[in-house]
Formats: sequence, C-alpha cells, structure tokens
Amino acid sequence: MIDVEAVAVDEMYEKLHGMLRTVVPDIELRYKAELAVEINGLKSRRNAVILGHNYMEPALYHSVPDYVGDSLELCRQAAETDKDIIVFCGVQFMAETAKILNPSKSVLIPSQKAGCSLAASITAGDVRQLKKRFPGVPVVAYINTYADVKAEADVCCTSGNASAIVESLSSETVIFVPDEYLAQNVARETGKHIVFPTLEASGARSADLDYQLIGWRGRCEVHDKFTVEDVQNVRKQFPDVIVLAHPECSPEVVAVSDFSGSTTAMQRYVEEIAAPRYLLLTECSMGDNIAAAHPEKEMVRLCSIRCQHMNQISLEQTRDALRHVRYVVDLPEEVLVKAAKSIERMLALS
Ligand code: 13P
Ligand code: SF4
Repeated sequence: MIDVEAVAVDEMYEKLHGMLRTVVPDIELRYKAELAVEINGLKSRRNAVILGHNYMEPALYHSVPDYVGDSLELCRQAAETDKDIIVFCGVQFMAETAKILNPSKSVLIPSQKAGCSLAASITAGDVRQLKKRFPGVPVVAYINTYADVKAEADVCCTSGNASAIVESLSSETVIFVPDEYLAQNVARETGKHIVFPTLEASGARSADLDYQLIGWRGRCEVHDKFTVEDVQNVRKQFPDVIVLAHPECSPEVVAVSDFSGSTTAMQRYVEEIAAPRYLLLTECSMGDNIAAAHPEKEMVRLCSIRCQHMNQISLEQTRDALRHVRYVVDLPEEVLVKAAKSIERMLALS
C-alpha cells in the first residue's frame, strides 16, 4: 500500500529543496517538509486558512500559507475568508487586525511573544491626550498599532497607502501615529510640514505651532538600524546595486535609496526590473524568500538585522497552534467595533 503521507513529505521536500537548497541546510529541509505536511493536514481538518507575512522564514513562507503578502494584502484576505479558523503567521497586531475584520472567525497567533516595537510605542491613552491637545484634528493610525489604539483613530493606514490616506482626508492638519520615520517620509511625499509636540501643555501652545502633520516618536527597532553609511558601503562594493528601503527606515536612508515601498511593493519592484543585484533594507528573511523564488536575482543581505518578533513564528509553533487551537485572539466588543471602523475606512479609501 502507498504511504500517502510519506509521498506528500517527499514532494514537499523536493519543492523546498528546489527553492531553498542555497539558504536552508538540507538536514533541516527534510524535517521542515515533515512539519509542513503535518500542518497542511491539520489545516484542512480544522477548516483553517493560513496567512503568512512576507517576513516569515523561507521554509514556512514557501510551504504552508494559503496567502502571503504585506499588511494590506493580508488584511484583505482576512476580511474575505470563509474558513472557520485564521492562523496568522505574523505578529500580534496583524492577528488582531484579522480578528477585527472577521470577528466571527477564530483567529490564532502561533506565538504570544510576537510583538512589535512600533505597536508598543503608543497607548490608547496617548492618542486620547493627543486628541485633547489638538481637538478636531483627524487621527491616522499606522496598522502597526494594537486594537485599542486603532479604536481611537479615525482611519488606519499601512506602509502601502500611508501618503494616499493622509491626502484623502480633507483636512489641513492630520495626526499621524506612531512611526516617526514613516510620518517624516509621508510629510516629504505630501509636502506637509511635520512637528513632534510633547503631550504636556508645557511646550509651545498648539495654536503657535506651524504644523500640518503631527507625529509621534515611535520607531521600528529593525528599520531604525539601517544607516546611510550601510548604503554607501554596499554601493562602494557593488556600484550597480539597486537599493530598496521600507518606509519605516529613516528619511535619510530612504533619500539615498532607489525605491521605497511596502514589503510587497519592494518584492514586485525586484521582480519587475532587470538589475544584477538588489539590497533590501528590511527584515532579512524577505531577501531569502525573493532569492528562493528568483534564483537569477542576486540579493545582497544585511542579515544581522532581524525582527525578533516575526522570528518567534516557526513551523513548530504553527503546527501547535492548529493542534491545540491556540493562541486565540480575543478583543473587547467595544474595541472591535470601533477599530473596525478605522480599518474599513482605510480599505474603502485605498
Ligand atoms: P508591510 O505592511 O510593508 O508588510 O510592513 C509590515 C511591517 O511590520 C514592516 O516592518
Ligand atoms: Fe514591528 Fe519592525 Fe518587526 Fe515590523 S519589523 S513587526 S515594524 S518590530
């Protein structure tokens, strides 16, 4: 009798080996192929869908997700799925977004340690204080925020639509939280003048501030590490390199890059243009994932720069999430309803 599971493991191993033999040691590939087959079996038995962010490690990224993408694409998939369970291979705020958009589904996050330095940089109370200090000014919350912060905002945005969302608001001034660099990049793109006021009234009076964009000093601990010097050093070594920076990088780094966009926009850019090599200023797994799908493209990687939160999500944790139906994302009803308005407004505008 044919051992169906063994055949499936062989097929998965061949697929992963074909794509990843230069990035993942062979001994690990067979083990990961076994895990992936087990996950895919659990996924169909539980009537689940797996969403995988572009930062997932290569073996996971290329084996178990039904959909991969950036925050905006995964929001859309989460809203549309008719499966009973959504397993979110990404970080907590992303899984929360899936729950907000499809509250009747069970949303699982494979690790409870998958946080985000940007999401942790601002609280709902901080947003309430900003609104008190700048009454009537609409609040745009980056998707990298927790649900209670989204609930205080008027509209959300992602790295793929931040400038368009700010421009779509018919308001002279906008509060944009929490990413300091993304806000500065948006200010440059939209020609707005940005200020970073203190919450306390001890600074300049709001009426005296010359502002169009009111920012917050949150930063991504990963993108904050890329410097102009990194770009200069790589360009010195590879003068023909194309440099792509995520908009969570500083404006100085974005200014010396050739392209800036969301993780999927960067991926598409690499796929669409013919260049000998590319430097991605973002979580390193993305470079691995693109290199695996496009072996003809040389990806220059600065692999000491990793997202410790995204890296919490492994194949083992994903299997255990489905095996034990854990860790369930649960949000208070009031937060769900209010946050949904901000995200749905973004989806309608973008
Ligand atoms: P994207 O929406 O561009 O995928 O970015 C998410 C993120 O967390 C980047 O650090
Ligand atoms: Fe958050 Fe930065 Fe990690 Fe993205 S890369 S999840 S913004 S800490």
